[in-house]
Amino acid sequence: MTISVRHLKSHAGETVTVRGWLSNKRRSGKIGFLQIRDGSGIVQVVVSRAEVSEEAWEDVKRVTQESTVRVTGIARADERAPGGVEIQATDFAVRSLTEDYPITNKEHGTAFLMEHRHLWLRSSKQRSTLAIRSEVCQAIRDFFYEREFTLVDSPILTPTSCEGTSTLFETEYFGDKAYLSQSGQLYLEPACAAFGKVYCMGPTFRAEKSKTRRHLTEFWMVEPEVAFLDFEGLIRLAEDFIGFLAGRVIERAATHLEVLERDVSKLEKITGSFPRVTYYEAIEILQSHGIDIAQGDDFGAEDETVLANHFDRPVFVTHFPTDLKAFYMQPDADNPDTVLAMDLLAPEGYGEIIGGSQRIHDHDLLLERLKHHELPIEPFQWYLDVRKYGSFPHSGFGMGIERFIAWMSGAAHLRETIPYPRMLYKIYP
Ligand code: 4AD
Ligand code: MG
Repeated sequence: MTISVRHLKSHAGETVTVRGWLSNKRRSGKIGFLQIRDGSGIVQVVVSRAEVSEEAWEDVKRVTQESTVRVTGIARADERAPGGVEIQATDFAVRSLTEDYPITNKEHGTAFLMEHRHLWLRSSKQRSTLAIRSEVCQAIRDFFYEREFTLVDSPILTPTSCEGTSTLFETEYFGDKAYLSQSGQLYLEPACAAFGKVYCMGPTFRAEKSKTRRHLTEFWMVEPEVAFLDFEGLIRLAEDFIGFLAGRVIERAATHLEVLERDVSKLEKITGSFPRVTYYEAIEILQSHGIDIAQGDDFGAEDETVLANHFDRPVFVTHFPTDLKAFYMQPDADNPDTVLAMDLLAPEGYGEIIGGSQRIHDHDLLLERLKHHELPIEPFQWYLDVRKYGSFPHSGFGMGIERFIAWMSGAAHLRETIPYPRMLYKIYP
């Protein structure tokens, strides 16, 4: 019976078959030690020449790294083996022999590995990072499902911009212009009037023209949007969300964090409520660290790092100047030159994880803001309708999934947190 490596332990003492790829081989005389990976784990297989056919032993001799193989044998509990079990082979066969596998056990440069991303996926750290991604996406869905949010998928082809026009990917749409979505937010807001609490999760696109370790041109965003939720409620939702996700990663991805040598004590601090500073205070903190920045300036990546390190925990920056933020944000009643916006900055240099705000719910104010940002009114007519037919205060945020995964897994660059990264000048494979 073919068994997943992950489940071998509960088959100790039985004859099992495993199919997979050879990740390593060692031979000493008449015994071969093979590491076989099947996607669910790695198992050590011991083949003794005396116990297998001549043909099987020939295959042990010729098998190479990343060849496809099949082994049958007795699963033996062994506390020293990874996964607590190894296989004593009774049969072994190569199904597809690999020659000149490009990624060997020696060091390779990142450019080379990125060119071979389709193969690099097989390496243990890459697999662990992407397994964490899978856990995070499941946890996101569970979080919202348990809290009775409705999933509302937003379109990818759109007639408008959401987050400024400088990073739009433009395409032709039957003679008209269309853009790849920068955010699903605008489409979630009307859905609030249908379902109350909604979220979307999917790819979003930004033509980021600089190469940084925090920017992809295609990244995934999860965005909740809630009717009648005020700014304070929004911050609490973000805290609950981040705490829940970090807890799930610690609980369900422990072996992957170990492979990645992630310092879990850092992740264990991500619970409860997070410190908050206003934008104004944040600038003062940066100045106190000797950084050359003035009130009214936007933060650069380094500024975010200094701020987050100042607290050693995720920190909310709130109440940004209106001019620094998108057109749809609700002004603060106490200081109308600022908006009820928040960014959540992660520690350890991972930067802005979440951006969100309370939304303008007054029709005329929104119209005025659109004009101020020199956006065309016609393609936003449907969005203005939300303020026309039963308007309601509402708030939401967006979290960049790759940024969160990089933070959890300790990845140095976002490119390792998505299976096939898209970046400036990079679309292969
Ligand atoms: O702060 P942003 O631009 O906010 C929005 O798009 C809102 N419409 C979301 C909302 O309120 N529903 O982007 C949200 C998050 C950022 O905090 C960051 O984590 C991530 O998306 N992000 C990127 N991640 C990877 N590569 C990029 N180029 C990113 N740009 C933003
Ligand atoms: Mg932002």
